[in-house]
Amino acid sequence: MTKPNAVLLTGGAGYIGSHTAISLVQAGYFPVLLDNFCNSDRRVLGRLKQLLGDQAFAVQEADACDQSQIVQLLTSFDVTAVIHFAALKAVGESVVQPLRYFENNNQALLSVLKAISSIAKDRYIHLVYSSSATVYGDPDQVPITESAALRPTNPYAWTKVIGEQIILAQQQANPSCRAVILRYFNPVGAHESGMIGEQPQGVPNNLMPYVQQVAVRKREYLSVFGQDWPTPDGTGVRDYLHVMDLAEGHVKAVDYLLAGERSEIINLGTGTGRSVLELIRAFSQASGQDIPYRFTPRRPGDIAVCYADSSKAVSVLGWRAQRGLEAMCTDAWRWQSGNPDGYV
Ligand code: NAD
Ligand code: UFG
Repeated sequence: MTKPNAVLLTGGAGYIGSHTAISLVQAGYFPVLLDNFCNSDRRVLGRLKQLLGDQAFAVQEADACDQSQIVQLLTSFDVTAVIHFAALKAVGESVVQPLRYFENNNQALLSVLKAISSIAKDRYIHLVYSSSATVYGDPDQVPITESAALRPTNPYAWTKVIGEQIILAQQQANPSCRAVILRYFNPVGAHESGMIGEQPQGVPNNLMPYVQQVAVRKREYLSVFGQDWPTPDGTGVRDYLHVMDLAEGHVKAVDYLLAGERSEIINLGTGTGRSVLELIRAFSQASGQDIPYRFTPRRPGDIAVCYADSSKAVSVLGWRAQRGLEAMCTDAWRWQSGNPDGYV
């Protein structure tokens, strides 16, 4: 089963993992997707096969907390790098079920690192880790640089801060263990084919998936959480990033590590903040649909403004987001209108 350029994607059937699999194949890598499907749909695999062909990737149903499964995949495919996506990611749920979040997210990372180090005697396997802008909490200033203070405000965010610390400690103990920690801002949109995209379970927590469901009339209107934020139009400002740009950022990170470069922590964002009202307008224009909305009180825990200083990604990885808000909305709409009930 040995494959040249095999890359293991834990959580590879999820939203970002499935899009990254496409970019990896396009760049000449062989993705090996490990997932337990706790927050994804097996039918994404059929779509990937339609897009990429049967032989372009492999799939293993397994729990990322199971170290022996990971060791087995690393050795049988001769994996050169792991992208560790597998995690639970719902902020609100993490407040209600903190132990489940710490157990799943941090145990999975430990298993990956232990699996990597168990075969490190023979060769090096590099790690790309999915962190999040959530580690910054409410920032003192924007754009946010990688050296900004870390102020997690919920258990999910803590799992990411702890994950980063685990990786840094392991690097200090074993300098041969090299990793790129990617702090994503707000991934949105879908693959240009409209065949894969984000499929939230239940009521979407995040803005773009909610807007998409309003556009296909699955939801009556969008609640805009607050109109009195200290922003130009009073609504929250975020750094929305096309998921295919994010996917390509992972390819750059793998290329970078395989070229022998040193470990880094890097923001992946566009560097531009957009308000909720701007996003509604852009989506309405791209889709031709009216997006009814009502202002409601602020959501607890929300912040006013969050966007990246993305200069380090440019200088270190040679990565810069290529797609603007219009493409994010057009591609999200193509996916949502073609698949109103997701992969069903
Ligand atoms: P997702 O839920 O769509 O994908 C995660 C995948 O991991 C799912 O397919 C899920 O079934 C799988 N998974 C979870 N725990 C697992 C385990 N123990 N074993 C095997 N598989 C497991 O989420 P996503 O949006 O693709 O996010 C990917 C990563 O990026 C996560 O680590 C997330 O925290 C991080 N991230 C996401 C965002 C975002 O807004 N989407 C922002 C910043 C960071
Ligand atoms: N918003 C609404 N109505 C909604 C949903 C969101 O007005 O129904 C607003 C929010 O108040 C915020 C903006 O839209 O101003 C974006 O909200 P999201 O929930 O889409 O994104 P967040 O930036 O709040 O959080 C997301 C993930 C976090 C992650 C963070 C950075 O939920 O886990 O992006 O990556 F850490």
